Amino acid sequence: MESMTKVWGEVDNQPVYLYTLRSGSLTAVISNFGATVVTLNVPDQTGKVVDVVLGYDTLKQYEQNNRAYFGGTIGRCANRISNSQFTLDGSVYHLTANEWPNSLHSGLSGFHMRVWETVSFTNENELTLRLESPAMDQGFPGNLEITASFKVTDNGLTITYSGTSDATTIFNPTNHSYFNLNGHKAGSVVEHLLRLQANYYTPVENARSLTTGEICNVLYTPMDFTRPKTIGSEMTPSFRQLLYTDGYDHNFCITKYNGDVMEAAQLTGDQTGIRLTLKTNEPGLHLYTGNYLTDDIGKGGAHYYKYAGVSLQPQFYPDAINHPNYISPILHKGETKAFETQYLFDCVS
Ligand code: BGC
Repeated sequence: MESMTKVWGEVDNQPVYLYTLRSGSLTAVISNFGATVVTLNVPDQTGKVVDVVLGYDTLKQYEQNNRAYFGGTIGRCANRISNSQFTLDGSVYHLTANEWPNSLHSGLSGFHMRVWETVSFTNENELTLRLESPAMDQGFPGNLEITASFKVTDNGLTITYSGTSDATTIFNPTNHSYFNLNGHKAGSVVEHLLRLQANYYTPVENARSLTTGEICNVLYTPMDFTRPKTIGSEMTPSFRQLLYTDGYDHNFCITKYNGDVMEAAQLTGDQTGIRLTLKTNEPGLHLYTGNYLTDDIGKGGAHYYKYAGVSLQPQFYPDAINHPNYISPILHKGETKAFETQYLFDCVS
């Protein structure tokens, strides 16, 4: 039988592996480099297996192309922090700016670029990885210990993040997979059908994509995905928010959020009928349509152009640490917080 663990290479003298997790006809390939989802194979209506996430073939490519965050675990804090600065318990903390003066996804050497320790790989379908992020790593206070667990079942992949810190800090992890349910090589996702459980979204100030701090109703705007529509159907620059970001790159506020795992999004591939239902217990869902992809060469030589994949990232609202009206992303000293995302698959005809 084919081995489920493969040595992929080395980074900073630490071994990097590819783990194949399997249940029924679903397979996920996860690497301990960045706790990254490299491959997610899902059967279509005819039983043909389709890899539905964008990614690279080699470890070198992941090391060199750290800006697209393909499939990686983002931390400590997903999304943008204005002026790369925040105040916690009266102290001001400075992060490394990587997007004008702002911090995006906690910088270019975030958790997606770290070699995670393997805690366990059991039953061919469950993998737990661990990372110790020392105090002041990326500029954040507190020694943070985080685990990311991946479990494949017959109908999906569940990722659970658990974090604990010895000082009060921010804990806002997510996974940055880009989905193309027609197959990662299939081109644009604009004909995918999308439904979001979101009556509100957070607008951006301008092309730098910082949140204004407002929470706006989606009603009568192209941001309304409360009823399924194709991603491209209203993706027009005549709506200023979409002009700023050249497509969707916005946080949606999950309706009825109460800390329980609940449906946030449903996405269907128009060619394969593969349907993804995403459930999470995080309060927001960032929708990013791959607006800034520019002919990246991916797995099997695939060309990933603009809109080649859609990233659905469960997380706290952007820059929540600087906006008291947004749900707080703070992890208190000694507290353990766990976040779960379920990516569930079925097919529709
Ligand atoms: C951000 C985009 C950014 C992309 C890749 C997304 O999560 O919202 O603005 O371009 O990540 O860095």
